[in-house]
Amino acid sequence: MTITTINTLEADLGFVSDAYRLVRKIGQGGFGQVYLAKQLNTNQDVAIKFLSVSSDFDEAKKKRYIERFDRETLLCSRLQHPNIVRLLDKGCCHDNLLYAVFEYVDGKTLKDTLAESGALLPLDAAAVMGQVLDALAHAHEQGVIHRDVKPANIMLTKVGAKIHAKVLDFGIGTLVNEVRQLDYKSITLTRETLGTPSYSAPEQLRGEPPTPKTDIYVWGLVFIECLTGQAAISGTSLASVFHKQLSESNVPLPASLAGHSISALLRRVLNKKAGERASDAAELYHEFHQLNFSTLVGELNQPPERHFSTDNTLVVQPGDNETLINETLINDSSAVQATYASLTERKANYRTGGGAKCYCSRG
Ligand SMILES: Nc1ncnc2c1ncn2[C@@H]1O[C@H](COP(=O)(O)OP(=O)(O)O)[C@@H](O)[C@H]1O
Ligand SMILES: [Mg+2]
Repeated sequence: MTITTINTLEADLGFVSDAYRLVRKIGQGGFGQVYLAKQLNTNQDVAIKFLSVSSDFDEAKKKRYIERFDRETLLCSRLQHPNIVRLLDKGCCHDNLLYAVFEYVDGKTLKDTLAESGALLPLDAAAVMGQVLDALAHAHEQGVIHRDVKPANIMLTKVGAKIHAKVLDFGIGTLVNEVRQLDYKSITLTRETLGTPSYSAPEQLRGEPPTPKTDIYVWGLVFIECLTGQAAISGTSLASVFHKQLSESNVPLPASLAGHSISALLRRVLNKKAGERASDAAELYHEFHQLNFSTLVGELNQPPERHFSTDNTLVVQPGDNETLINETLINDSSAVQATYASLTERKANYRTGGGAKCYCSRG
């Protein structure tokens, strides 16, 4: 007979398991809570992500959340890569508490790292983002598009002598084949789709079907952020973030990168026109690997500026896409803010910029 003892954390959640014991809460996203836990049979650390389905949710919202959760575990089960957090198990308690068990990453998110310590050294930025690119190459090979690549969904951990990146949160990911086979409009009506405006590709914000190129564009934005410590696309309002993403003007590259060969690669990655953008993450990885990042050095202090940081995954409901892509709304700051407030299920996050390190090119 198995005797299951329940601690306070488990009692609060309603989690009953004779396989795992919760240790402490380590993460809270808009869709779930994440706990460090022990797998009792092996005494290994694991991370358990619980789906928060509040009793206030109406049936439609509950259904969307559950679909998102199932989706994340389905996509993760296809991925086996050292830089993608591994799914180990999944389960359900009392029919309403769903959970997924992942390998535990003992580290910090890239978001927290950048907020606490500013820009990464160029060689670290290249190492971390090279691993993220390799992770995306694997996901794309398996037909999986992440769609929510951002610093909060990348964890950094030091194991052995070096830093390892782990990509997590495939909650709004999708399958390439599925996008091809189904009418995309009907998918957008039933799923959480939009992503995070500062970390989205223009076509994603226009509500067009995602392709692997969507992830590649955002990878470029996050790489710039690693080098400068500042989001590559930010603004004083959500409207200006949308405007910068959707306008035809190029994403500004840090002046300090001018003349370095990374600029040419970033231009191809950050092409606003998806049709003209670099499309193969594996090819890009090999090209990226050939670049010499030791020639990027120096520091540049940017004047403090209050940024609207849209580090929130937007949740789209039927009819919302049309509102968001309406150009007139995009130019109307208050309307966009209101739309945003009604769409996002996460707390808006304002961040004060300034004092970030940047790097001058000598090569
Ligand atoms: N496997 C893991 N190991 C360690 N921490 C994790 C792990 N998975 C998630 N976290 C923490 O929990 C946070 C939220 O997880 P995430 O999967 O991004 O959930 P959400 O879908 O709610 O954004 C992450 O930003 C991270 O801090
Ligand atoms: Mg997340």
